[in-house]
Amino acid sequence: MVQNINIAIDGPSGAGKSTVAKICAEKLGFIYVDTGALYRTVGVCALNKGIDTKDKNKIIDILPDVKIDIKYIDGVQHVFTDGDDVSEEIRQPEASMAASDVGAISEVRQYLLSVQRNIAKENNIVMDGRDIGTTILPNAQYKFFLTASPEVRADRRYKEQKEKGIDEDYDTLLEEIKQRDYQDTHRKISPLKQADDAILINSDNMTIEEVVNFICSKVKV
Ligand code: DC
Repeated sequence: MVQNINIAIDGPSGAGKSTVAKICAEKLGFIYVDTGALYRTVGVCALNKGIDTKDKNKIIDILPDVKIDIKYIDGVQHVFTDGDDVSEEIRQPEASMAASDVGAISEVRQYLLSVQRNIAKENNIVMDGRDIGTTILPNAQYKFFLTASPEVRADRRYKEQKEKGIDEDYDTLLEEIKQRDYQDTHRKISPLKQADDAILINSDNMTIEEVVNFICSKVKV
């Protein structure tokens, strides 16, 4: 049996993982898997039911009803729950913190583990997240940990939003990034952490193209 190639890209929010992973996948002809979207979907389902995303027991109660389907439409990942395409809704600002909240619950992580492993088993993939190299795909052939300082990440997010016509306050963005970093690195289960065998990339002084070229240069297909 030919083994599929798995590339794991982990790192904190706003480091550019999804942009980089998407381009690398395109260049290599692989499928890009955005695992944050799965946590966001659980978070949004909870918010839509009026549930506090920090209320662990209530989140565990609704989990069996959260049916997640991933589909690729024209090569782009879409997430569906109960037949509804929630790909846009999960990008709303409130979904970010909700995803970070539910991601701290071990039952949620367990629930999403098989979804992620099944896709990786059946395809050549570039998967981005927080614990892909450490927990989800510890045997991935290639692992990268992409980071940047909180200030650089907040500045990039600020400019991205501005380009979309959304005027967000830089200090608020910086504060949210620091809060999510803290929550994601300090949770008991599968915290955000560089895998021992992952290559560290600090993108503070790198363009997206440079990061993409660096990653692709390491991958032998
Ligand atoms: O990558 P993102 O910003 O879409 O992720 C949103 C939140 O989901 C993030 O703050 C933590 C959680 N998450 C996680 O715990 N594990 C992952 N593999 C991906 C995301």
